[in-house]
Amino acid sequence: MALTVSETLSVGRAAKRRQIWSVGGGKGGIGKSLIAASLGWQLARMGQRVVLVDADLGGANLHTCLGLPSPARTLADFIQRRLDTIEEALTETGAPGLRLLSGAGDLLTAANIKHMQKVRVLNKIRGLDVDVVLIDIGAGTSFNSLDFFLLSDVAVLAVVPEPSSIENGYRFIKSALYRRLRAAAPHAGVRNLVDTALDPKNDLGLRTPVDLVARVEQEDVEAAAALRREMGSFHPRFVINEVRDDRDVAIGHQLVAACGRHLGLRASYAGYVHFEDAVWRAVRRRRLFMADAPTSRAAEEIRQLTRGLLKGETLGPGY
Ligand SMILES: Nc1ncnc2c1ncn2[C@@H]1O[C@H](COP(=O)(O)OP(=O)(O)OP(=O)(O)O)[C@@H](O)[C@H]1O
Ligand SMILES: [Mg+2]
Repeated sequence: MALTVSETLSVGRAAKRRQIWSVGGGKGGIGKSLIAASLGWQLARMGQRVVLVDADLGGANLHTCLGLPSPARTLADFIQRRLDTIEEALTETGAPGLRLLSGAGDLLTAANIKHMQKVRVLNKIRGLDVDVVLIDIGAGTSFNSLDFFLLSDVAVLAVVPEPSSIENGYRFIKSALYRRLRAAAPHAGVRNLVDTALDPKNDLGLRTPVDLVARVEQEDVEAAAALRREMGSFHPRFVINEVRDDRDVAIGHQLVAACGRHLGLRASYAGYVHFEDAVWRAVRRRRLFMADAPTSRAAEEIRQLTRGLLKGETLGPGY
C-alpha cells in the first residue's frame, strides 16, 4: 500500500535519510531549471529542508529562476578553496527551508572541473545536513552530467514533445546506463565489450545494452548477471514539459516502453507539465510561477509531480 505524504516525510525523517534528486535532459532550453526550482520550492513548502544545487557549471541560472541576483558565493569558490566549507557557499532563497548552491562564476575552470575535485564536491554535497539535495545538472551528456544523474536516488529526465528533445533524452539515459555498466564491469574483457558497444556502428552488431548483456552472457554468465543487476537498479523518471495535448502526454509512456525494450531498464513516467503563459510570464518578471501563479495548471501539476516523486508513484497508462 502506498504511503501518504506525511507518512513518507516522517519515515524519511526517522531514518535521517538524505535523498539526492537530480533533473537532467540532455538538451538546452527545455525547462530543466524551472522544473528543478519548482520541485525544490514545493518540497520546501511541504516541510523538507532542501538545497538546490546548480551544477550546470558552465551556464548556471537557477538563481534567476528563483528571482535572485547572482549569488555572491558559489560552488566555484568552494572548488577553488576560497571557502573552507560547502555550507559557506549556500545562499538563502527567501523561501523557508530552501537554499541554493550556485554554480555561477569562474565559468571555464569550474566547467572543466578535474576528477579529484569532482569527487570532493560530490562527497561534500552528499554530506549536507538536509532532507533533499536537488541538482540541476544542465544540458549535455558530459561525464559530469552523467555522474550527477547516476548518483541520484531520484533521477528526473525532462523532455519536451519535440523529436530532438526526445532523442536527446533517450540518448542521455543510454549514455548514463553504459557509463554505469562500464563502472560495474568485473574485468577488462567485459569493459572492452562495453567500449565496443559504445560505438553505434561496432562490428559485433551490439546496438543496445540488451544486445551487450546477451553477448557478455555468452562469455561470462556471472558478469552478465552483475550487469543485469546494474540495469535493474537504475530507474530514470520521465517528466514531459510544455505539454499541449494528449498526444504530448502519451510521449512519456512511449519513452518508458522504449527504455524497457531497448535498454532493459525499468524507467517510469513521473508526470507532465502543460505549456502555460503564466510560466514564461513569471520568468520575465523574475519570479517563480509557483509563487507568482500558484493557481495555474502548471503549478498544480508540479505539486502533483512532487507528491508522486516523494511517494515513488508513477503515471498509469490512463494518463
Ligand atoms: N511549462 C512551460 N510553459 C511555458 N514556458 C515554459 C515552460 N517550461 C519552460 N518554459 C520556458 O522555457 C524557458 C527555458 O526554461 P529553463 O531555463 O528552465 O530551461 P533549461 O532546460 O534549464 O535551459 P538551459 O539548458 O539553458 O539551462 C523558460 O524561461 C520559459 O520561458
Ligand atoms: Mg537551466
